[in-house]
Amino acid sequence: MRFLALVLFATYVHGFKLPFEVHVVSNQRRDVTGQSVNVNNGSVRITNTLNSVYISNITLGGQSIPVMLDTGSSDLWVTGTVPNSVDTKKSTKLEYAVGEAAGDIFTADLTFDNYTVKSQAFLLVANASGFSTNIVAQGYNGLMGLGPNTGSLVRKELDAKDSAGDAVMNRIFELNQTSQNYITFMLDRRGDPGSNITGQITISEVVAGYESILQQPKLSVVTVPDLTDEDQHWQIYTDKNGVIGPDGQPIVTESIVPKSPDGQLVAVFDSGYTLPQVPRAMSDAIYGRVQGAEWNVANAVWTVPCTQMLNISFVFGGTTFPIHPLDTVSSDFGLTDSNGNPVCAGVFQPITSAFSLLGEYDIILGMGFLRNTYTLIDFANFVSTSTTDTGKPFVQMLPVTNVQSAHTDFVNVRMNGVDSTGAASQALVPASEGQSSPVSKEEKEKLLAAKVLSRWPYILMGSLVLFFALVGFCIWRFCCRRRCAARKAAKAKKMQSNVQMEPIGSYKALDDVNSPYMSSYASHSDVFSDKYKSNHV
Ligand SMILES: *[C@@H]1O[C@H](CO)[C@@H](O)[C@H](O)[C@H]1NC(C)=O
Ligand SMILES: *[C@@H]1O[C@H](CO)[C@@H](O)[C@H](O)[C@H]1NC(C)=O
Ligand SMILES: *[C@@H]1O[C@H](CO)[C@@H](O)[C@H](O)[C@H]1NC(C)=O
Ligand SMILES: *[C@@H]1O[C@H](CO)[C@@H](O)[C@H](O)[C@H]1NC(C)=O
Ligand SMILES: *[C@@H]1O[C@H](CO)[C@@H](O)[C@H](O)[C@H]1NC(C)=O
Ligand SMILES: *[C@@H]1O[C@H](CO)[C@@H](O)[C@H](O)[C@H]1NC(C)=O
Ligand SMILES: *[C@@H]1O[C@H](CO)[C@@H](O)[C@H](O)[C@H]1NC(C)=O
Repeated sequence: MRFLALVLFATYVHGFKLPFEVHVVSNQRRDVTGQSVNVNNGSVRITNTLNSVYISNITLGGQSIPVMLDTGSSDLWVTGTVPNSVDTKKSTKLEYAVGEAAGDIFTADLTFDNYTVKSQAFLLVANASGFSTNIVAQGYNGLMGLGPNTGSLVRKELDAKDSAGDAVMNRIFELNQTSQNYITFMLDRRGDPGSNITGQITISEVVAGYESILQQPKLSVVTVPDLTDEDQHWQIYTDKNGVIGPDGQPIVTESIVPKSPDGQLVAVFDSGYTLPQVPRAMSDAIYGRVQGAEWNVANAVWTVPCTQMLNISFVFGGTTFPIHPLDTVSSDFGLTDSNGNPVCAGVFQPITSAFSLLGEYDIILGMGFLRNTYTLIDFANFVSTSTTDTGKPFVQMLPVTNVQSAHTDFVNVRMNGVDSTGAASQALVPASEGQSSPVSKEEKEKLLAAKVLSRWPYILMGSLVLFFALVGFCIWRFCCRRRCAARKAAKAKKMQSNVQMEPIGSYKALDDVNSPYMSSYASHSDVFSDKYKSNHV
């Protein structure tokens, strides 16, 4: 959770106008508990702290609580006290790099948007002083995971046979068997005078004016093997050559996901990540050719001059998603270069500690990417009670960054209104002279380990095939012998009439052989999912 370290010394950018809001239709709706929820034509407001945390209010036990929205995890936790809540006497802990969220699992009625679920399970973190960051100062008192149900540790702990322990979104979708099981959200950008986006999240409906998202291609969620389904994230394939660098050329990187089609990468949508995480070679290709680029060792990010305009884009389902140059090079973190001069952060960081050792994804697209899209995530058959939305989960996206007006914004904000994007100092150095960021020994080892570990489903399959081949062989031998024996016996029967049956014992071995595989891979996945989570929030 390196980015929170960045947030700690982040400063408000003074002098910029706040984004003006065009979607606010201030019809305050009353929710079921009589509490006023900030509703904007069927959607819930999302507020933005320093472009680093996105927050909405939920109502829990009748009390309004601001929570960080995190599409990358699946549990709800809050700090402080919750009225009208019931202690299940079970406890768990969720690992984040800011510290552990640990405590008892409680239940209370929850309202979000205009939906109320009875007895929602959540983790009550009684003591938040263990966090390395002051979450209250950043405007939130908890975190709501919007990820797949299988990722919920609270649900696992409750071990509920019914759906009582399910994650919040699953509980909401379970209210109505015929609902469309999707959420949509858009995130605003602080310090961008030209943006007209208002942060908002909707459930089973789309934001007025953005209905065309429903016509966008449905991009299937790439699923992970059942055995490691607690690592399942909202992840999809990029198109082939789907990441376009600042020179307008595709940045070609090989996927670490073994089943990934040639030239395509697996990208996770994670609103809990401030800085998107990309393969190191990709980050180097974006920032290493900038004049004055420096690798910041302490924060493990590239820094570049704040006036550098870098155009990059991603391609999903044939649609290009341009990234606003204010998101590619961020002034939000108050960084300085080796001479102590203010510099900006290269937002698309090399993926290190969140690297997937099981080879389940290549890229984590955090807030720096998500500000550029209106995103729809359909949980579909991840909600088991549905009778209508029963297909496979998918994502639909609309680009919301206009390249021309983004250019104007950048010139106004970073160049004092004087367009110097054509200056010689802005030109990229030739690729052959580009800098590379340093690779640690630990990272090299991880890359090697991933090459082997990511192939575990195939190794497991291979072992099983070998195992069944052996069993098959034994049975064949056994049957042969029996047939021979039977033949002999048949002959013998003519004289005597008694055939001895041997017990068939060979199948017993199946359970014995399976269990060590199961347990060893399950424990791997625990370790790795913790790794991912710990870099996360
Ligand atoms: C949450 O509620 C508080 C108090 O009612 C309000 O001040 C704040 O703006 C709300 N935040 C959001 C994101 O709606
Ligand atoms: C929430 O509001 C929408 C639109 O106003 C309505 O269609 C839907 O039925 C409501 N859902 C619930 C659970 O009240
Ligand atoms: C809360 O946690 C902090 C740090 O982990 C610890 O120093 C403190 O004693 C705890 N407070 C309570 C009341 O348990
Ligand atoms: C359930 O969802 C469907 C489809 O969105 C809607 O038509 C229906 O009104 C909803 N039922 C309730 C009780 O909210
Ligand atoms: C928002 O701004 C973009 C240009 O940046 C424009 O194309 C779009 O129509 C605007 N949307 C609304 C709803 O005003
Ligand atoms: C909400 O959005 C719909 C679709 O654009 C529009 O027809 C309706 O008038 C809006 N409702 C309110 C209360 O603004
Ligand atoms: C980025 O794209 C805009 C719009 O196409 C263009 O005007 C600008 O020159 C580009 N900037 C760079 C540095 O390529």
